[in-house]
Amino acid sequence: MHHLATLVLLCLPVCSAYPLHGTVRQEDPSVDLAQKKIQEMQKFLGLKVTGKLDSSTVEVMHKPRCGVPDVGGFSTFPGTPKWRKNKLTYRIVNYTLDLPREAVDSAIEKALKVWEEVTPLSFSRIYEGEADIMVSFEVGAHGDFHYFDGPGHILAHAYPPGPGFYGDVHFDDDEKWTQGTSGTNLFLVAAHEFGHSLGLFHSDNPEALMYPVYKFSTNPAQLLLSQDDIAGIQSLYGPPPPSPDVLMVPMSSVPPRRPEMPAKCDPTLSFDAISTLRGELLFFKDRYFWRKVHWNSQPELHLISVFWPSLPSDLDAAYEAHSRDTVFMFKGNKVWAVRGNEVQAGYPKDIHTLGFPPTVKKIDAAISDKETKKTFFFVDNKYWRFDEMKQSMDRGFPRLIADDFPGVEPQVDAVLQEFGFLYFFHGSLQFEFDPNARKVTHILKSNSWLLC
Ligand SMILES: *[C@@H]1O[C@H](CO)[C@@H](O)[C@H](O)[C@H]1NC(C)=O
Ligand SMILES: [Zn+2]
Repeated sequence: MHHLATLVLLCLPVCSAYPLHGTVRQEDPSVDLAQKKIQEMQKFLGLKVTGKLDSSTVEVMHKPRCGVPDVGGFSTFPGTPKWRKNKLTYRIVNYTLDLPREAVDSAIEKALKVWEEVTPLSFSRIYEGEADIMVSFEVGAHGDFHYFDGPGHILAHAYPPGPGFYGDVHFDDDEKWTQGTSGTNLFLVAAHEFGHSLGLFHSDNPEALMYPVYKFSTNPAQLLLSQDDIAGIQSLYGPPPPSPDVLMVPMSSVPPRRPEMPAKCDPTLSFDAISTLRGELLFFKDRYFWRKVHWNSQPELHLISVFWPSLPSDLDAAYEAHSRDTVFMFKGNKVWAVRGNEVQAGYPKDIHTLGFPPTVKKIDAAISDKETKKTFFFVDNKYWRFDEMKQSMDRGFPRLIADDFPGVEPQVDAVLQEFGFLYFFHGSLQFEFDPNARKVTHILKSNSWLLC
């Protein structure tokens, strides 16, 4: 029972009325206050309000959760602390031994990106000195009066915006931190904690990322934020600024705004690029992609930046080199190599390192044949063939698409290989091509893959 009382009593500084003043640390919480907090927490979690730690309260409190207490039902902290600047810094002070350092770096970066996407805020990493948001792994008592409690229960806590230790995030290093769904997923917990660092309090909406009880059954890479989270953070910082290319639209036309989320069943839907990834299908569009775990399962929509923070949006082409467990993604004259959700070191590279002549400025589509390990690059009305084993372009290319893939519309947006067919995407249409019969067997709507 001791650690439960600890949760209730020692979390008081974070939720007392003036969290920005250091003096609250010296408060000596009385039993009455503790009882009041228990009542408030019970009310918040929809439990019977007794003011005592009865079994149902204890049960909910035993679920893994955030160490910021559950009181209020507000979406911001008392006094509405927020950052008075949009450019914030963060520093990863130290690491857990549970994960490789790169995995920690990437989980933290992605978790900040979740908030960056929906606000004017931006985060840059610093490696020394005092950052706005200091991230560290701690165990037990660690000097801030908010003790951690060993494995389970309290996973992390964070301070609302302000100077000094405010804004900082501490992870309980007695947890088993992971990248997956077993143990405690660092990205998910970090995304929640950064919500606090930016001034969001807990939400009583069970759909919200800011709901205090973690749900690890959630796919860690899905669109994390609920409308409730977005409304909360935008009440503090407003929406993100329009992207610069949209700003150049003449004044008379539509007001600048971010591209909407694409609708999968829009009959005019086209794709930027399509790739497989470890047996899944990825359909890229603007800042998003649909992920199909199985060819006939419902697609999930994700932000590219949540999976791969350093990748651009509006990709040109993508393909999986199966033998190297790598997906290559193209935009303009650059190519990125991605393994799982890690962008590989040394990328992006210039596409001309693959052997394209200088006249090729970008790639429209790419596909690698699993059997022959030959990769086809489509550029305007031509295509090149690349040998993945030799890592060089085959001689005799480029050739005309019309000569070797008769019936396919040149200018390919994306290409996919499934069931022994090649699917060439051109705007809202796709051409199913049988390589043995060397002819187009069907013309389909592009979004037929998304179960429309
Ligand atoms: C990380 O740094 C903090 C603050 O300096 C310290 O309290 C903590 O023990 C360190 N944790 C690890 C795992 O080194
Ligand atoms: Zn929390």
